Amino acid sequence: MIIIALTGASGIRYGIRLIDVLSSTDIDLTIILSETSRKLLLMEAGADQLDVIPPRAKIYQADQLDASVASGSTKTQGMIICPCSMKTLASIAHGFADNLISRAADCMLKERRKLVLVARETPLNLIQLRNMVAVTEAGGVILPASPGFYARPTSIDDLVDFVVGKTLDQFDIEHDLFLSWDKISKR
Ligand SMILES: Cc1cc2nc3c(=O)[nH]c(=O)nc-3n(C[C@H](O)[C@H](O)[C@H](O)COP(=O)(O)O)c2cc1C
Repeated sequence: MIIIALTGASGIRYGIRLIDVLSSTDIDLTIILSETSRKLLLMEAGADQLDVIPPRAKIYQADQLDASVASGSTKTQGMIICPCSMKTLASIAHGFADNLISRAADCMLKERRKLVLVARETPLNLIQLRNMVAVTEAGGVILPASPGFYARPTSIDDLVDFVVGKTLDQFDIEHDLFLSWDKISKR
């Protein structure tokens, strides 16, 4: 099982596509939505949570702290926060655990499981940079929503797929979302 959390950073399409791709695998999904992510779903994608959550996924709102994933004893392959706001980053960096997203992330770190934050903000202030260092030191992965252009993207979908593909790489999940430099350089 992989936990996917959507937060209120711009780039909600990354989260939608991630859910879309993972729902075509046999991996069980637990999806957590922050209140602001639901606003971003509407603002940036004209979507409702019901449009993007696959029927077999478990879904929780961020205030549901009694969900099973609030405990480290719930076995998971890891957690992806996509997109990840600077507020949620700060909460994780400081062990604040005041909602289901930051608490589940806290559990990933304490159980030494994979935690990937697809962070989205620019430019970054010193506090945000320090929070990224703190999460990295604790074992998390900061994966900026920063698409590469070496595969010559021609659409927004290509840019989104690059970031989602890089995220899947963190879990060694096979995909063909973008052509890696490894393959391009051998042409
Ligand atoms: C349209 C919109 C875009 C936003 N984009 C970002 C962003 O890219 N990065 C970020 O850190 N916060 C962004 N925010 C601010 C967060 O939504 C805000 O800090 C919120 O408290 C995050 O809460 P959450 O992490 O619980 O979802 C944006 C807010 C709005 C309304």
